[in-house]
Amino acid sequence: MNRPAAKNDEYLRSLYSLDGQSAVVTGGTGVLGRAIAMALAMAGAKVSVLGRRRGVAEEVVAQILNRGGEAMAVPADVLERESLVAARERVVQKWGGVNVLVNAAGGNTKAATVDAGADPFAMSETAFREVVDLNLTGTLLPSLVFGEAIVSSGGGAIVNVSSMSASRALTRVAGYGAAKAAVENLTRSLAVELGQRHGESIRVNAIAPGFFIGEQNRTLLLQEDGTLTKRGEAIIDHTPAQRFGGPDDLAGAVVWLCGPGARFVNGVVIAIDGGFSAFSGI
Ligand SMILES: NC(=O)c1ccc[n+]([C@@H]2O[C@H](COP(=O)([O-])OP(=O)(O)OC[C@H]3O[C@@H](n4cnc5c(N)ncnc54)[C@H](OP(=O)(O)O)[C@@H]3O)[C@@H](O)[C@H]2O)c1
Repeated sequence: MNRPAAKNDEYLRSLYSLDGQSAVVTGGTGVLGRAIAMALAMAGAKVSVLGRRRGVAEEVVAQILNRGGEAMAVPADVLERESLVAARERVVQKWGGVNVLVNAAGGNTKAATVDAGADPFAMSETAFREVVDLNLTGTLLPSLVFGEAIVSSGGGAIVNVSSMSASRALTRVAGYGAAKAAVENLTRSLAVELGQRHGESIRVNAIAPGFFIGEQNRTLLLQEDGTLTKRGEAIIDHTPAQRFGGPDDLAGAVVWLCGPGARFVNGVVIAIDGGFSAFSGI
């Protein structure tokens, strides 16, 4: 589309700016979610940090305020629609609307991880259902509740969080992998369905982080003395960058996907994995 030069210059200067935008980060209390919350705040967004643990959400907010950003804690459960609707009311009341939603709540659970060397037939059906529910329904419900507010607030973006387990099998975490594969499919469905109905005013994309040391995977990747487990070694061997990711490695892609620079990007999954998914292993 051709735009007047001055308007285009303004656009090019604003590619990575979220000035004045209202952003909600579910799982903003977690290792990756809090780094994403900080990155959005540094890009100019007013951030609502959403998680079940009020105290931790308040700590994250204090860190953002300390570094000159704007934020508030919004305790809520991504599996309870009413709690999300109440959170949306608080966000709209405080910041005047919602423009960005990052669905970072989720992850694997210990119960849904098959023990090393154990028979896969012994997998817990209950844990499988729970991990799928958390990652899939826990992405869908906030997207429905806050997505409506994004459209009525004049537009914006949703970013979901997938994983390397979505596209290729990782051993021992079948439920988690199935859930994240479904998150990627849901990302495309919502991008299409919402785009057809609301045009450019709402985009839905996802990131697929590689391997980051978090609370849920620490014991899978590191031994007690901090050296790599066999699984950790295999991951580093398959990662051309030769390291695990750090939470701030996600910042650039998330800010870009949420902002004007990605205005024609819809329904994609961006791998942030140090090259893991590109490598055949040979
Ligand atoms: N770490 C990795 O290597 C890695 C790699 C790929 C993808 N990911 C994905 O990245 C996302 C963040 O992972 P992380 O490593 O930062 O995990 P984390 O530190 O455990 O953070 C996950 C957050 O999700 C929140 N959460 C869980 N259940 C919730 C619920 N019912 N309602 C609201 N919030 C809920 C928790 O907050 P509360 O306890 O406060 O509710 C927690 O802070 C997850 O989707 C994970 O699957 C992680």
